[in-house]
Amino acid sequence: MLASGPAWKNDASNTAAEQAQQIGMNHDGMHFFPSEPGPAGSRSGLLVLNHEHIDQTLLTPDGPTPMTPEKVSKGLAAHGVSVVAVSLVDGSWRAVDSPLNRRITGSTLMAFSGPVSPDHPALKANNPPMGTLNNCANGHTPWGTYLTCEENWDGYFGTEAPISLTPAEKRYGLSPEGFVGWHTADARFDLARNRNEPNRFGWVVEIDPKDPKSTPVKRTALGRIKHENAATAEGRDGQIVVYTGDDSDGEYLYKFVGTGPWRQHLAEGRSPLDHGRLHVARFDESGGAWLPLIHGQGALTKAKGWADQADVLLRTRQAADAVGATKLDRPEWVAVHPTSGEVFVTLTNGSSGPTPINPRKPNPYGQIVRLREAEGDQGAGTFDWDIFVLAGDPDYDSAVRLDDADVFGSPDGVIVDPDGRLWIATDVSNSSQQRSDRGYDRIGNNALLAADPTSGDIRRFLVGPRGCEVTGVTLTPDQETLFVNIQHPGEATNAIGTPTPANPRVVSNWPDFDPAGRPRAATVAIRKEGGGKIGT
Ligand code: FEO
Ligand code: CA
Ligand code: CA
Repeated sequence: MLASGPAWKNDASNTAAEQAQQIGMNHDGMHFFPSEPGPAGSRSGLLVLNHEHIDQTLLTPDGPTPMTPEKVSKGLAAHGVSVVAVSLVDGSWRAVDSPLNRRITGSTLMAFSGPVSPDHPALKANNPPMGTLNNCANGHTPWGTYLTCEENWDGYFGTEAPISLTPAEKRYGLSPEGFVGWHTADARFDLARNRNEPNRFGWVVEIDPKDPKSTPVKRTALGRIKHENAATAEGRDGQIVVYTGDDSDGEYLYKFVGTGPWRQHLAEGRSPLDHGRLHVARFDESGGAWLPLIHGQGALTKAKGWADQADVLLRTRQAADAVGATKLDRPEWVAVHPTSGEVFVTLTNGSSGPTPINPRKPNPYGQIVRLREAEGDQGAGTFDWDIFVLAGDPDYDSAVRLDDADVFGSPDGVIVDPDGRLWIATDVSNSSQQRSDRGYDRIGNNALLAADPTSGDIRRFLVGPRGCEVTGVTLTPDQETLFVNIQHPGEATNAIGTPTPANPRVVSNWPDFDPAGRPRAATVAIRKEGGGKIGT
């Protein structure tokens, strides 16, 4: 984070205190904030990036066993968000020292805002509200803040005590086992001893990257789900609109629509993200509707067991069930085209079909869906939709219209650049990569592709190293630099191998290729030889 900070050690022996001063692990969503308007803002700025999760085999010298309080602390410090100044010097981007450089981790103090107020009983736990975890993808607001999304937060919790989980807890995937093991060394993550701590996760968190002393705010009006990203747009009446998917198989796509112009809220000292209505999508055979999740209306009344709007938001998944939303094959990122207003949604893979929107079951490859809001208004209550592209290998599925230059599977990250190119980052799971019995032997490693939404033409742009997924993509305003995150290179990959503390290099040793080192996530900056916009 700073030149004076602790150096990264290739044997993973950095302490938790050192990790808290270093870039985190497993980079995901990312956004470039230019330092100023004009050309100079394409040569320096802030990169804000998420650290989604940790690979415990690679994070400490002896891996996760036995779990210790120090390992939990290091894991917490490797999560969250980094704000880091970057500058283009002699044709190369470099991280540079800045008073704005900042780490936000699983231990940073947090504020709550919106209908689930900070003093709501469901948010009372043994420790102050702190931390953001499993920061998958992101968004950014027109007023210059960063949005980070909490995805698979359930796995950090568990217990060895006898426990009976409520339907809401089960609906979010909480279980006595969890999948990180922290509860065995830190009572904060013990479900039986700190029952409400999970209620503090599953939110979209707003961060002001230009104010390093600001407290990140969990914006509860956007609902509590496993948020993938938070794509913003403006409605016809000047309202803020936020699209967000819930990435589990059979979950839903949501849209928050602000009440009143966002500029007016800001001018009057309110957050535009605290005032509005959350909706969930119903996809009909032709067209679809945004169903409001409003307490007191329809299925969400007191008589039907809903206490108030905070209850609706704390149990967003069940509220969406109640109003009749459409189950989707794992909704991942959403991106809004800057001029046409078309909304692109990746459904990465799953088994929710067969239905019109999820045409295959099983669906190992996924599809990208395109929505057109009624009358071109992002705040509309209805939309049309089509399938922009069905991913997969035509050798295994004749409905797929892709060839060797563009074959891909499991689309995950999407952004639309200012010229309208749709960038598609893939996340084929390491249990399926390279395997013929999963139909993935001809698709190769995860990749970044570019699509032309008008012609439908798609071309592969880069291929990542073994074991990785390709995640956050962002460009400088002049579009001459594209930053892309390569997450978890060298992760255990079924068809290749499994890293161990003794040999963490079994799958990949990218990007350092240090014979005594280990693979690690990195942000790659791409520029065109001779200059010019990326993608031309
Ligand atoms: Fe974190 Fe759904 O990808
Ligand atoms: Ca993702
Ligand atoms: Ca994914």
